[in-house]
Amino acid sequence: VSEPGPRIAIVGATGLVGQEILGVLAERGVPAASVHGFASSASAGRTVPYGEAQLRIAALDGEALDGHDLVVLAVGASVARQCAARCVADGAVVIDLSGAFDGPDVEMVVPEINLADVTGERAPRVVAVAAGLPGALAAVLKPIDTAAHLRAVSVASYEPVSGVGERGVAELSSQTLNLLNGQSFDPEVFPTQIAFNCIPVLDAVDDEGHARSERALAAVLGRVLTRPDLEVLATRVRVPTFFGVCAAVIVDLSRVLTGAALRVVLREAPGLLVSEDAEECVAALDVVGSDAIHVARVREHPERPGTLALWMAVDNVRRAAAVNAVTVAEALLR
Ligand SMILES: NC(=O)c1ccc[n+]([C@@H]2O[C@H](COP(=O)([O-])OP(=O)(O)OC[C@H]3O[C@@H](n4cnc5c(N)ncnc54)[C@H](OP(=O)(O)O)[C@@H]3O)[C@@H](O)[C@H]2O)c1
Repeated sequence: VSEPGPRIAIVGATGLVGQEILGVLAERGVPAASVHGFASSASAGRTVPYGEAQLRIAALDGEALDGHDLVVLAVGASVARQCAARCVADGAVVIDLSGAFDGPDVEMVVPEINLADVTGERAPRVVAVAAGLPGALAAVLKPIDTAAHLRAVSVASYEPVSGVGERGVAELSSQTLNLLNGQSFDPEVFPTQIAFNCIPVLDAVDDEGHARSERALAAVLGRVLTRPDLEVLATRVRVPTFFGVCAAVIVDLSRVLTGAALRVVLREAPGLLVSEDAEECVAALDVVGSDAIHVARVREHPERPGTLALWMAVDNVRRAAAVNAVTVAEALLR
């Protein structure tokens, strides 16, 4: 049966983000002539839920993606790079979540900030969605920058194992079971034991001691806030939680704002949910399944006017990846 609407492909449809995208597409009733799911050849024939239906997964090979209007890449960067050029040549619009496309020729989008850049006449063929912590943090910082001009941002993150996908979830589960049962194991996904531990670096460190993911965070913020001069210092930490990414953020402002004034600014901003109560505890698990970027603990530096601290927490898989991708897809399809 042929329905009106675009032919949509989700690449990485068996992964954490891909499955969540299918869920959000179905929940929101995004119209489509067809929805196809692709993954590695190991998953060919598997089924994954798409609303009430089950979607049969096809292997991503050769011409598999030809004939689609919209292709969402929820795979690692190297597979994303392999797919994108062919999809564009075939006439599709590509939404990428992998961070593979960060060049000046590709539009990088945070829905709360610059969704308008991908709609209308100027619609690009490849849209890089700033997903995960960088995109969510940008959505928090944008209204602050507009209201009081950010001078510097320092951030320490608390990032769940699902940030590296299904295998991160499997590693924390198995290590926890092994440890509780007195069994030995070798770390495979993370550089050292993650169960009951805290790892203060996510990936490769450069000569100056900054991790690649920390540089990438600073680059995304500079770009989507159009503030290449913004000073950003990040320490990204892997913690033994499954879902929900959190960050302790300190902002230095050019214009002094009180904590109360900053809360008003944040409450009026799109996509954010700001705690009314100064004592409210917004923990990682509290935001899992939520479609908001949560902000809490907004407070002034006790000594230094214009320096404030806040806490943010967001569902990394659903809100900071799948919801962003579907929001961009809806805008492109309009
Ligand atoms: N997880 C997060 O918090 C998060 C947040 C923001 C952005 N992202 C980005 O979203 C993307 C997906 O992340 P994820 O967490 O969903 O990872 P994941 O759970 O590991 O899923 C990866 C997906 O890629 C597929 N895949 C792997 N190799 C493939 C190949 N050669 N050909 C075709 N498909 C292949 C996998 O298929 P099989 O099942 O067959 O292996 C699976 O469907 C990544 O780029 C990630 O950086 C993730």
